[in-house]
Amino acid sequence: MAFKLTLYVFILICTGISARSRRHLQWFPNVTPMIQPTIGEPWPRPQQMKTYATQFYLDPVTFRFNGSSASCDVLTQAFERYYLLIFESNSARGFGRKRRTVRGTPVLQGMAVKLEKPCQVFEQPSLEMNETYTLDVNSNYAQITATSQWAALRGLETFSQLVHDKNGILVINATSIVDWPRFPHRGVMLDTSLHYIGMPTLLKNLDAMEFNKFNVFHWHMVGDYSFPYQSESFPEMSNKGAFNPYTHIYSQLDIATVLAYARLRGIRVVPEFENPSHTLAWGKGQPGLLTPCYTHGKPDGTLGPIDPALNSTYDFMTRLFTELTRVFPDRYLAIGGSEIDFYCWQNDPEIRKFMKEKGFDDDFVKLEGYYYGRLFDVVSSLDRRVSVWEDSLDSGVKLHKEVIVQVWRGGDTDYPQRLANVTSQGYRTLLSSPWYLNYVQNPYSKQDWKTFYMVNPRNFTGSEKQKELVLGGEACLWTEYVDSTNVLSMLWPRASAVAERLWSAKDVHDVDEAIHRLTEHRCRMVGRGIPAQPATGPGYCKQEYMYT
Ligand SMILES: *[C@@H]1O[C@H](CO)[C@@H](O)[C@H](O)[C@H]1NC(C)=O
Repeated sequence: MAFKLTLYVFILICTGISARSRRHLQWFPNVTPMIQPTIGEPWPRPQQMKTYATQFYLDPVTFRFNGSSASCDVLTQAFERYYLLIFESNSARGFGRKRRTVRGTPVLQGMAVKLEKPCQVFEQPSLEMNETYTLDVNSNYAQITATSQWAALRGLETFSQLVHDKNGILVINATSIVDWPRFPHRGVMLDTSLHYIGMPTLLKNLDAMEFNKFNVFHWHMVGDYSFPYQSESFPEMSNKGAFNPYTHIYSQLDIATVLAYARLRGIRVVPEFENPSHTLAWGKGQPGLLTPCYTHGKPDGTLGPIDPALNSTYDFMTRLFTELTRVFPDRYLAIGGSEIDFYCWQNDPEIRKFMKEKGFDDDFVKLEGYYYGRLFDVVSSLDRRVSVWEDSLDSGVKLHKEVIVQVWRGGDTDYPQRLANVTSQGYRTLLSSPWYLNYVQNPYSKQDWKTFYMVNPRNFTGSEKQKELVLGGEACLWTEYVDSTNVLSMLWPRASAVAERLWSAKDVHDVDEAIHRLTEHRCRMVGRGIPAQPATGPGYCKQEYMYT
């Protein structure tokens, strides 16, 4: 009797609970559906890809990478890296298991990488690098044919993403891929002056960039709030201008480490020493560099942009940029040019005198143009080219035709007009306006990666020639509210949407298809040690154990 009663009560409780949970769902009829991840599908999506039902099994003990030119460090190190990514980061781990033959599934013995052009040991990735590769998995040996070592890296990344867990073993479907990027410049701009980002985090971010086939790290290193660059020529600048001169700096060794790490992943490092505005922290270690601001005819104790009227300014810039070109090998430097406030220039009697001598009348755009003219002379004498933020072009400064103009205004509505404007004047351009990742849209009302994803950088009124001038774009992260604790989660996987937009064909724009691949890709990054945040609604990653 007692047993029957207990059973009765038990059933009552159970039905009560299930009724409650049903009610719970009814109260929220628009609950976000759970997204099923794809299994072994690449992100960004390759240009041409065929997959077949035949599968191969990967054995961690016998699997080998083979390169046609083993002396190339980029390739040999990539083989080690991808071996670990394939066999250690997947939820089916090869290690510690008894080797077993998988009945009916042929073994993939290895991957042969053929370079069409032998790689040079000291070669650097560049804007002109060729990233086209083919990838074939259809016999016991997979093969990548790559136009360059950089292309081989992209092929290896795709290969690693195709390998997946099937009931505890690693398999890959027979696949045939021909792939190349839609745009040659696919960047992440990260600021490290509003908050300092530590070295381990910067390196992890380069890992994540490689997983997404990004190829430019635009490093906005210094700014108004801090100057963490430890200069050989001007050590006082980080001594006085860094948040902390011992712990919150980038030493020459740190920078060399970032450069080598990025190069091995086919990522260019384009440093930005923004000027002449946003330079307040420069002034701390370099007295006399910034313009003193005057109010009612008297210096008011505050400082403005770099002083363009002094010869000492150009001596300083020559020495600093000479050092920078020795430190950073890329052909391009970003030199800033955003948000110049003329107020302090207008009120400085010395600058007014200088303007009169030069015959600039009261046109401060002419002064800005004069400053850039001299800076460009310095930079081109060092055999470097530059990119600037679009503001300089807007203000009417005559820029050299080689300058790349980065469009950042206009958000996700006005960028087409801005691209049309810049390209109609013949400038090459990079798009960033719709990709300011520091602006977060409420994730409960909108998954903002979808907005990033739907951008088309060539969707503006203009000739074919103008559209060719769009070199690509950059996802930007300004770090007012970001530091080492959250930078990776802020960027990933939101920047992945930008990565696919810049790599994949223009007709790859179906968010309902992409969301399943992005869900898998985010978990893949989690498994590889990147704390990428959930971006596609409720669900879970098999790889979460990394963080619990
Ligand atoms: C991979 O192979 C499996 C097993 O034959 C098949 O079910 C699956 O559809 C294939 N996947 C793709 C993307 O072709």
